[in-house]
Amino acid sequence: MTPPDMDFVKLPKTDLHVHLEGTLEPEMLFRLARRNRVPLPWRDPENLHEACKFRDLAGFLAIYYKGCEVLVTGEDFYDLTRAYLERAAADGVVHTEIFFNPQVFRGRGTPLAAIMEGVLSAIRDMRDRISCLYMGTVMRTRPVEEALQALEELAPWYSEIAAFGMGGAERGNPPLHFRRYFDACRERGFRTCVHAGEEGPADYVREALSLPVDRIDHGNAAAEDPALLRILAERRIPLTMCPISNLRLKVVPDLAAHPLKRMLEQRLCVTVNSDDPAYFLGYASDNWAAVCRALRLTRAEILQLALNGVEASFLSDERKAALRQEVIAALPAPPDRDPARRGI
Ligand code: ADE
Ligand code: ZN
Repeated sequence: MTPPDMDFVKLPKTDLHVHLEGTLEPEMLFRLARRNRVPLPWRDPENLHEACKFRDLAGFLAIYYKGCEVLVTGEDFYDLTRAYLERAAADGVVHTEIFFNPQVFRGRGTPLAAIMEGVLSAIRDMRDRISCLYMGTVMRTRPVEEALQALEELAPWYSEIAAFGMGGAERGNPPLHFRRYFDACRERGFRTCVHAGEEGPADYVREALSLPVDRIDHGNAAAEDPALLRILAERRIPLTMCPISNLRLKVVPDLAAHPLKRMLEQRLCVTVNSDDPAYFLGYASDNWAAVCRALRLTRAEILQLALNGVEASFLSDERKAALRQEVIAALPAPPDRDPARRGI
């Protein structure tokens, strides 16, 4: 098949930037609200859907944190995680790295152990169907001391945590405020990533590069800074980009204006991811289909993007090598060059 009508569900994909809380589908949200007797400002899933016409990141986050209130028991966290993993596996995601922020649920009466066991046991139960790494994350709008405390509180689960990140409302909250947090993550041996250049300026991406950070989440604003693009390409720092999220949060006016293709041409390690798929109406393959169509990506670019996802992951070199082969086998040379081989 040629790129415009490729079936992206069949492409073995990674999803390296997805917030577990952002996979809460409206039907589950309302079911959990009833189960836990949590009042909601929306009448029904349709009414929530109408509220999901976001003006910006802050507008989205207000709804996202409201939605988090329905998650109360360990079973809720298990159900949420399992539902996302089942959906991602059916969508052709072969490896996912999920952010989850226990800070959001602090002080609400649910023990951290119940929350973490809910999430981690779903990951374990789904291990045969989809590979998944857990990433802790913290809010950049809270004091750095709170982030350090959150890091300490997760100590009993360190062996099941791959990385730590940072998200939340970006403008006015530069990465450098969290140097102590990123240093502490590194001292404990974790991989790290930071949301930067989503709504914030290119300078926030530059700042992030002065921290011990392995990956930049989003990084769109770097497109405006040629010198920064060269650094990102040379250091091969991955950007986990989220095209449909960027469209819904008005980071780009339309997908044709998305910087992903230009960055790919400049040899950056850009990847395609879903961010908060339940709220943005786009899981992994939807993001691939939308961005490939809007930017008219070639088969070679699609292959490079899929391989970038493997390279940017926090998997071992051995697992990366196996996944790379899986991607190459699914996206062979075009039929006219090698008619004997079947691809997507
Ligand atoms: N948390 C969940 N989604 C986010 C996003 N798109 N940007 C920053 N923080 C987030
Ligand atoms: Zn994000």
